[in-house]
Amino acid sequence: MPISPSPLERWFTTHPGPHAHSLAGTAAAAPAWDELAPLLAPGWERGIGLGYADPEGDGELRDRVATMYGLPDRAHVLLTQGAVEANWLALAALIEPGLRVVVQMPIYPQLPLVAAHLGANVVAWPYPWDLEALWPLLDGAGLLVLNTPHNPTGQVLNVALIRARAGCMVLVDEVYRGVGEAPIPPSALSWGPDQVLVSGSMSKMFGLPGLRLGWLVGDPIAVAAAIPWREHTTLALAGAATALGLAVWPKRYALLEANHAILTRNRARVLAWAGGRGQAPATAGVMLLEAADDVGIAERWYQEERGMVIPGTVCGFPGHLRLGFGHREPAALEAALASLSRFL
Ligand SMILES: Cc1ncc(COP(=O)(O)O)c(C=O)c1O
Repeated sequence: MPISPSPLERWFTTHPGPHAHSLAGTAAAAPAWDELAPLLAPGWERGIGLGYADPEGDGELRDRVATMYGLPDRAHVLLTQGAVEANWLALAALIEPGLRVVVQMPIYPQLPLVAAHLGANVVAWPYPWDLEALWPLLDGAGLLVLNTPHNPTGQVLNVALIRARAGCMVLVDEVYRGVGEAPIPPSALSWGPDQVLVSGSMSKMFGLPGLRLGWLVGDPIAVAAAIPWREHTTLALAGAATALGLAVWPKRYALLEANHAILTRNRARVLAWAGGRGQAPATAGVMLLEAADDVGIAERWYQEERGMVIPGTVCGFPGHLRLGFGHREPAALEAALASLSRFL
């Protein structure tokens, strides 16, 4: 059965690399292998399992993720191929046809589109996300879906208040938590796992999206309900990703610190370049730049100079470009901004 494509992910698919310039990232760019390797304990690679792994993911890594969220044990954690699989497994496990699912909108397109595909009655909680407008929408809801800090606005929701009043299961995509240098906002799990599921990963905060290592964490009954879906989808994580994830784990906050330094330096630069036409909160790794013809500009930049930037239209903010500035090399950011300037 065909599924509605994600306009955001379609943009990536239909504008493939190599790109001469890219402003399409949403966090600090991944380090090169040569930069990462010295951080790893010698011989880590001997831990790469080449057989099938446990469907729930490696026990030791699940324990470490549980500890990171202040949860008592691995029964609260399912390791996944990025937050994107965590979202998918959670929605598949929780949704029955006709379930009323309230979704913060705009949001990462996967969330409402997969929910609708699974037969949910999707109800939008529209921008600018007034809490007083949310409460009546939750009447009769079976699931509330949120993304905080939010891509691309960087907005942080008051999850403590929302989960206290929701009265239903809450799925929170927290993949951007800690990406920005603002103090790391509390996880929705800070007040316990009851009726809450969180998706997260190594992709944004620690800058390692190529690992495809993520997690679904929270209410152990809901986590257990997601496991049969794992058995029908990806079966298990790759042994190499698990071993590298374990090796990187003790160094993850060193990576985070380096990523924050990159974003602090580059945010100042893009704000100066934008000259008041863009907002780039310290909770995010992106800027929303005013650009009336966002799709036209992004398309022409790609066609003429192989530049890659995301038009706001494909992520719910038409009239803006979503501009990522996580470049590790300042010269690469300068060259991209100079090139894009000719199209604005
Ligand atoms: C809000 C949101 N959730 C999930 C994902 C997927 O992240 P991952 O690489 O962990 O699968 C993205 C990727 O951009 C995202 O923006």
